[in-house]
Amino acid sequence: ATVPEYQGKGYAKAMIDFIITKYREEYSTLQVGTGDSPMTIPFYEKCGFVRSHIVPNFFTDNYDHPIYEGGIQLVDMVYLRRSF
Ligand SMILES: CC(C)(COP(=O)(O)OP(=O)(O)OC[C@H]1O[C@@H](n2cnc3c(N)ncnc32)[C@H](O)[C@@H]1OP(=O)(O)O)[C@@H](O)C(=O)NCCC(=O)NCCS
Repeated sequence: ATVPEYQGKGYAKAMIDFIITKYREEYSTLQVGTGDSPMTIPFYEKCGFVRSHIVPNFFTDNYDHPIYEGGIQLVDMVYLRRSF
């Protein structure tokens, strides 16, 4: 997470680029799992990730309370991948 008052300044994208640069010799794919949320998926897509697969009911099976982001209840875990 980026501290709210510092969002939109490129910090999260810089961190992803840093991870890719650091592990470029050892790995070729970066994978993330997140809720199907308008607050996170577009960010990862902007960073070059593409949807890979889902884990159905991840958020409803593993948390004892409903989680909402951007007014939408998180249900499935969405995995995205970026090859490098
Ligand atoms: C998602 C999050 C980490 C993004 O952090 P950030 O530092 O604001 O992101 P950046 O400034 O590096 O943005 C990189 C690019 O993504 C875009 N972007 C960021 N959030 C976006 C969103 N919700 N929708 C569309 N685009 C988005 C930016 O416009 C930027 O595009 P650009 O390169 O064309 O300028 C931040 O919003 C956050 O901390 N959210 C709450 C916690 C969270 O959801 N974490 C992820 C859990 S999986």
